[in-house]
Amino acid sequence: MKKVLVTGGAGFIGSHIVEELIQKEFQVIVIDNFSTGRNENIENLPIELYHYDITNPNVVDLIVSLNPDYIIHQAAQVSVAESVNNPLYDENINVKGSLYIIDAAIKANVKKIVFASSAAVYGNPVQLPVSIKHPTSPESPYGLTKLTVEHYLKLANSIHGLSYSILRYSNVYGPRQDAKGEGGVVAIFSDRLTDNVSPTIYGDGEQTRDFIYVKDVAAANVKALMVNENICVHVSSGTTISINALFQMMKEAAGSNVQPIYKQVRQGDIRDSILSNDLSKSLLNWEPTFELYQGLKETIQYSLKNKQIPILK
Ligand SMILES: NC(=O)c1ccc[n+]([C@@H]2O[C@H](COP(=O)([O-])OP(=O)(O)OC[C@H]3O[C@@H](n4cnc5c(N)ncnc54)[C@H](O)[C@@H]3O)[C@@H](O)[C@H]2O)c1
Repeated sequence: MKKVLVTGGAGFIGSHIVEELIQKEFQVIVIDNFSTGRNENIENLPIELYHYDITNPNVVDLIVSLNPDYIIHQAAQVSVAESVNNPLYDENINVKGSLYIIDAAIKANVKKIVFASSAAVYGNPVQLPVSIKHPTSPESPYGLTKLTVEHYLKLANSIHGLSYSILRYSNVYGPRQDAKGEGGVVAIFSDRLTDNVSPTIYGDGEQTRDFIYVKDVAAANVKALMVNENICVHVSSGTTISINALFQMMKEAAGSNVQPIYKQVRQGDIRDSILSNDLSKSLLNWEPTFELYQGLKETIQYSLKNKQIPILK
């Protein structure tokens, strides 16, 4: 049985990757400091769990001693706003923490490291759909630290022969996404709709996004382990929907009559985003399998179920 170490495995995307790995019969080790990850995302799963911080230099020795065959690196500070307010904090986790993981990957001689990058490396796109060759021009420290790690991975490959797969995600959505974060519009709509409360739409709602279901992202990560070449690809739907149309679809899925509240567009919000996924289809042999409506329905069901859990005092 091949051993895969998942950093950030207790988080939203990481926990779905863990489930996909178990289903594909990998042995799974998780390292997470539970800053945003949650125990209930992974409880009862047959994994080896380390409550550990990737910014702790001893993480390198820990990983070497665990001797994984592969590493999937998801742990990160994921808030764009936090990166703007506190770039050193962002740099410490997203660059320094990632460098420890890369160092460990080299020393443990892993067959492949898969890295969670982001559309944030492009900043405001000048050409749509965004292809992987689109110039990178991050507009936040978060985008810059993701791009920096991509470069470190390429260097680790040329200096040490470390094999990598870089996956640049579009807007990921699905069960377990935190509605408190500023990024997950689907999680926020789902939370509000199931509470019968009006959500806020910033701007006229005609801005568009490329939403990819978290289970498709998990499948892409597992496929990315097995690719021989070093690749950098998009994990996206390759399609686009306006925030207004998304809201209508979610209202229907939730059977709700709630109306949104419109507020002024937020500074720095990009108008349109869509990432081409042609390369991931050919290089990863992967394509999205979940229809948006189906994924939204599952997300809403998760929100509803979560609200039925009594809070223990
Ligand atoms: N959600 C999206 O739409 C999206 C888009 C592009 C890229 N990404 C990337 O995907 C990855 C997963 O993001 P997510 O949305 O699941 O967020 P998340 O916050 O749910 O997951 C991050 C996980 O990393 C853990 N973590 C954070 N700092 C750590 C540290 N110092 N040491 C150990 N563990 C730590 C957290 O506890 C959490 O479990 C991140 O790298 C993120 O940048 C996410």
